[in-house]
Amino acid sequence: MKTIVYYYSHKGSNRFLAQRLASDLACDIEEIKPRLNVHLLMIMGLNLGNRALKTKVEDYDKIILCGPIWMGKLIVPLKNFVIKYQRKIKKLIFVSCCGSSFKDKDNKFGHNLVFNQVKSLLHHKCLHCEAFPIDLFAPAELKDDSAAFMKVHLNSENFMGEIIPVYDALISRINEL
Ligand SMILES: Cc1cc2nc3c(=O)[nH]c(=O)nc-3n(C[C@H](O)[C@H](O)[C@H](O)COP(=O)(O)O)c2cc1C
Repeated sequence: MKTIVYYYSHKGSNRFLAQRLASDLACDIEEIKPRLNVHLLMIMGLNLGNRALKTKVEDYDKIILCGPIWMGKLIVPLKNFVIKYQRKIKKLIFVSCCGSSFKDKDNKFGHNLVFNQVKSLLHHKCLHCEAFPIDLFAPAELKDDSAAFMKVHLNSENFMGEIIPVYDALISRINEL
């Protein structure tokens, strides 16, 4: 089974998560690079496509796609990836380090909305979706300060506590799929 992690990250949380997954799964990794890597313009929906990948999607049995959620949407670089390689993807697991908590997953900006978008594009090829909400690793004292809370990014220092069982369960799940 050949596996690869493809990721996009603006502030580093999903880069950290993607690199950690690739290291623990001992698999390949490649960053998805949008031609227009301007956060605000991408949020507004401006889309010039992604740069060409160095790896070949069709060479992999299992793909882990990792990236953030903005405004309750499947972000432009990830959407471009899914649409462009829809036919070549064999199995995909979608992973997001995002702001919405497990409790808020079905709200307007909740991660389930994005998971449903990925599932509706890939149908049975999307085998699993997993969220790593910021509240799994943000300091408890920031939980009432939403601006400061959203600025917390995942790294080797805060990768501990509540996030670990969620992460370990995901690794087991990926290995079983
Ligand atoms: C402009 C903006 C909009 C966001 N909208 C959402 C959202 O709708 N739902 C959500 O769960 N998280 C949302 N987030 C939080 C990001 O998904 C979260 O900070 C993510 O971990 C950032 O990943 P990165 O560090 O890899 O760029 C938003 C963040 C920004 C900056």
